[in-house]
Amino acid sequence: MSKFMEWVDARFPATKMWEDHLSKYYAPKNFNFFYFFGSLALLVLVNQIVTGIWLTMSYTPSAEEAFASVEYIMRDVEYGWILRYLHSTGASAFFVVVYLHMFRGLLYGSYQKPRELVWIFGMLIYLMLMAEAFMGYLLPWGQMSYWGAQVIISLFGAIPVIGADLTQWIRGDYLISGITLNRFFALHVVALPIVILGLVVLHILALHEVGSNNPDGVDIKKKKDENGIPLDGIAFHPYYTVKDIVGVVVFLFVFCFVIFFFPEMGGYFLEKPNFEAANPFKTPEHIAPVWYFTPFYAILRAIPDKLMGVIAMGAAIAVLFVLPWLDRSPVKSMRYKGWLSKVWLLIFCVSFVILGVLGVLAPTPGRTLLSQVCTFLYFAYFILMPFYTKIEKTKPVPERVTG
Ligand code: HEM
Repeated sequence: MSKFMEWVDARFPATKMWEDHLSKYYAPKNFNFFYFFGSLALLVLVNQIVTGIWLTMSYTPSAEEAFASVEYIMRDVEYGWILRYLHSTGASAFFVVVYLHMFRGLLYGSYQKPRELVWIFGMLIYLMLMAEAFMGYLLPWGQMSYWGAQVIISLFGAIPVIGADLTQWIRGDYLISGITLNRFFALHVVALPIVILGLVVLHILALHEVGSNNPDGVDIKKKKDENGIPLDGIAFHPYYTVKDIVGVVVFLFVFCFVIFFFPEMGGYFLEKPNFEAANPFKTPEHIAPVWYFTPFYAILRAIPDKLMGVIAMGAAIAVLFVLPWLDRSPVKSMRYKGWLSKVWLLIFCVSFVILGVLGVLAPTPGRTLLSQVCTFLYFAYFILMPFYTKIEKTKPVPERVTG
């Protein structure tokens, strides 16, 4: 075996890569619950790709056959039902995991210097993931696939001058048709997965260049032993590979429970109108996107003007990209930040969740007002951040991690 590895290493840096990224990558020893979600995001990504490949083997991307081919997968293909549920429930699981992964970043200031690029690559993944999920949802060609895509694509029509041409360019037709379905299929199964995989590699390379943050926000590289190993660091392999297996087992337990007992989650993972084939002549009574888009959908609806709504929705995502430059705090972790940062993070999270709920519900004057208040608070968290992180009193950060 060692002779073989010598042969390989003379031609390809296999051992070097193993050491740099696993057996000699020293991660802080105080990772907590929130640090499970990076490896879980990888797991869900692999699940989506593998189940996606198998679904593609029996799916037909045409307006005439798409809906029936999904029914065929569910009823006739051996284990087709589980493949489909692993993929459709996997999409929601992906967003659960990624939202918790991002929340960890906010909690421990993981986006701060020197991890700005880790965060930006993460945000690009998030953006691509939203595009991937949106296009995937058109493929079963159900009522909500059709009308959800209709609502979102028509938003581009609000852009002055080029709007009308742009929507037509995206659809490839005067209305959503088999042509749109075909291009969404190509992007969903080929183009975007490649982009996402590439971004994940960049995300991890950027992280390993600077090293992982931790719940204390302490820079472990400042205190090293005589061999240059951080005193508060432990080798990723075997310590965290083994620890991450615990996370994987717990996750799979919950994931399988959902797949076997509530695969559609009462209409939140797969919406009820999507069990009816797309009908361009019949608009569903109530059109709502899947839960992971609803906070942004609520922001869109909170603003009466269509163009301003689209801008606000875009800004709600764009502002996350510049987060590393909005936080002026001298400390990273919420453990040592002042009460203003803590209160604003709480306000932000509560507003995000309320917006998410409002995005599912049909609008009423009261709900619209509440979504306007939450939209205001959502943006206030970011816009006021340079001030409250600067003026608040922080606690002293310890020299070493606290366990
Ligand atoms: C496919 C999606 C993603 C995958 C597979 C992924 C994977 C990972 C992995 C394996 C780690 C190291 C383990 C950990 O710290 O949990 C990590 C760290 C990190 N990720 Fe992601 N990630 C994804 C999406 C995102 C997104 C959307 C963001 C934020 C916009 C993000 C921000 C970060 C940050 C800031 C770190 C460093 C955390 C720290 O050191 O405290 N990631 N990611």
